[in-house]
Amino acid sequence: MNAQRGDLMNLELENKVALIVGASGCIGSSIAKTFAAEGCRLVLSSKNLDKLNQLRSELMAIQPEGSFVTYAADIQNFAKAKKLYEECVRQYQHVDILVNCISGPEIGDQQNAGLSDEAWQQSFQGKLSSYIRMINLVLPEMKLNRCGKIINVVGLSAKEPNSRLLISGVINAGIINFTKAMAGEYGQYNININAVNPGFIESKRFNQFVNANEEKINSIKHAIPLRRIGTPNDIANMIAFLASDRSGYITGSTIAVDGGISVSAF
Ligand SMILES: NC(=O)c1ccc[n+]([C@@H]2O[C@H](COP(=O)([O-])OP(=O)(O)OC[C@H]3O[C@@H](n4cnc5c(N)ncnc54)[C@H](OP(=O)(O)O)[C@@H]3O)[C@@H](O)[C@H]2O)c1
Repeated sequence: MNAQRGDLMNLELENKVALIVGASGCIGSSIAKTFAAEGCRLVLSSKNLDKLNQLRSELMAIQPEGSFVTYAADIQNFAKAKKLYEECVRQYQHVDILVNCISGPEIGDQQNAGLSDEAWQQSFQGKLSSYIRMINLVLPEMKLNRCGKIINVVGLSAKEPNSRLLISGVINAGIINFTKAMAGEYGQYNININAVNPGFIESKRFNQFVNANEEKINSIKHAIPLRRIGTPNDIANMIAFLASDRSGYITGSTIAVDGGISVSAF
């Protein structure tokens, strides 16, 4: 269930300025709703303006007096990403919270032998470069202000390789590495940088993965210790916590929100 007006977690996020990239996606829109319910001022971005307008009208229904700006930008393009950041500053003077939540490579048969050099290069230009780009755009000012929260949405394949998600795994592992490195470099400026690792989440992406195969869905549910597929809201709740000062002593961490399905102990 998505966050509704009045569903406050009391995370003291009121009036914080949050930039969410990938805001119109399955997980991104749930994050947007949760942050709106917490009283954040939001800049909601993704590529497609129609989808953003749809999200905007859903938010208006639950937070009519809320403060949201939508801005369509393909952050794979540096100039457009920079304009997006400048729009945040123009609207709200600064950014307190950055959530990176854009889609990664398509799911499919990703045996290494079948992947061209071009496929690898194109993929590196997507989620990996885009997350790093957005982080580098917000960091200088967060450093000056001596405060900031950055949360990167990754995926379990980073730690546990899967032949259908080989490229995603490599890219997400790179993002986790960058997250840890930046936490080490910017902690002294009171900037927390973490990653969230969703497991199987009810979404378009999950539907692509299981391809309406009931047997497969049941076997996934059975493999999850909590015996259910996660919801986008499960992820949004963790991200809201990481965006708040309640998680002030957590940085450089990658937190699984996966119903217990990941098998590695660390
Ligand atoms: N869903 C799952 O089960 C699951 C599990 C593990 C990890 N994850 C990770 O969680 C993240 C979000 O997943 P999701 O299922 O919510 O994805 P989604 O529904 O496909 O949404 C992706 C969002 O990213 C935006 N986007 C894509 N490329 C962009 C670009 N170059 N510039 C700006 N925005 C861009 C899309 O906007 P447009 O539609 O306008 O292009 C959309 O808003 C992904 O990184 C995924 O790997 C998801």
